[in-house]
Amino acid sequence: MRASTIFATLAATAAATPVAIRAADYQWDVTEWTSGCTNDDCSYEFKIAGAATSDYPARPAFQASCSGASHDGGIATQYAPCKIEGYVGGTMVSRLNTPSELLGSRTVVPIQVSFQFADLTQDNTYWNYTGVANTTFNRGSGSPPASFAIIPKTSFGIA
Ligand SMILES: *[C@@H]1O[C@H](CO)[C@@H](O)[C@H](O)[C@H]1NC(C)=O
Ligand SMILES: *[C@@H]1O[C@H](CO)[C@@H](O)[C@H](O)[C@H]1NC(C)=O
Repeated sequence: MRASTIFATLAATAAATPVAIRAADYQWDVTEWTSGCTNDDCSYEFKIAGAATSDYPARPAFQASCSGASHDGGIATQYAPCKIEGYVGGTMVSRLNTPSELLGSRTVVPIQVSFQFADLTQDNTYWNYTGVANTTFNRGSGSPPASFAIIPKTSFGIA
């Protein structure tokens, strides 16, 4: 029996049990990243895309637009919903994490993205991937919008 078949059998008999999964070889591509702060409020926006993968669990291809802003000072650390285009089986959210250090005069800005999607083949099963990438506030700096990858490091499934 293939490992994935055993896994699917186990998943079918267990109710709402968290399952650890590997996030190996999975990457999201961020483009058009712009972010900055005015007075005490910070905001960001970007596009993000992921390719379909067929290893278990199979992951859907997606494209999404994300943005967030703080309104009461500080950076935008509350999860804000992203708009996923052309794929309806999931939700995506983004937020800024608190910058952990200063790189010269440029603050390291950790952007965190979380994607949760329904299993493509079994009911009552979903997967959740979360990743962080370090970037910078670049709006008004003369730098072009940034592109970078986010490697999801945290993942789990509920079956
Ligand atoms: C993924 O799980 C984390 C931890 O429970 C949660 O905070 C996050 O909102 C979930 N992602 C989505 C897109 O729902
Ligand atoms: C982001 O930068 C911090 C501070 O340098 C580092 O501890 C962390 O591992 C970095 N995160 C990623 C995803 O590279």
